[in-house]
Amino acid sequence: MPLAPDLFRDIMACFPTGVAIVTAREADDRPRGLTLSAFCPVSLEPPLVLVCVDRASNTLPALRAAGGFTVNFLAGGREHLAVLYASKADEKFEGIAWSVPETPEGGPVLHQDCAAYAVCVNRQAIEAGDHWVFIGEVREGAVIAGRLPLVYHRRAFLDLADPVP
Ligand SMILES: Cc1cc2nc3c(=O)[nH]c(=O)nc-3n(C[C@H](O)[C@H](O)[C@H](O)COP(=O)(O)O)c2cc1C
Repeated sequence: MPLAPDLFRDIMACFPTGVAIVTAREADDRPRGLTLSAFCPVSLEPPLVLVCVDRASNTLPALRAAGGFTVNFLAGGREHLAVLYASKADEKFEGIAWSVPETPEGGPVLHQDCAAYAVCVNRQAIEAGDHWVFIGEVREGAVIAGRLPLVYHRRAFLDLADPVP
């Protein structure tokens, strides 16, 4: 018997994660992006990471078409962006600063709102249940000095800069 979906979600919510905005550009260069916590470093040599994307995601076709993606680890205080990119809004990039990475396959870099970013080229795409797992090779990236990452735990955003209650 498979585990009940609610219990599965409750158990997974106990694993604290960062909050990433994964971005990619469509064939006509239109930017797409979603909030994502299913991220994992995979390998050092070569440098590989994975992201798991819902097959119903509107960003998924852009990830395929571009042949790559960018993982932006949101900085603290950007909960509003986590909520925006978790929506189905058609225009998520209006009024947000973003830049195009050197790697042509990469997605928009949210340089004013991330604590770090990694630009990836697709190496593998694996169908797994109702998600697709993309394994990407990291081609460029940076850590932004002085910015702490936003954390997600038990369905709440935690700001590491906030004092512990
Ligand atoms: C904290 C948080 C983490 C999430 N993690 C994931 C994830 O790992 N993979 C995923 O496909 N969706 C994840 N989502 C849900 C997507 O952000 C949501 O389905 C979004 O509407 C997808 O946007 P799109 O259809 O424009 O790509 C997460 C949402 C939140 C709030």
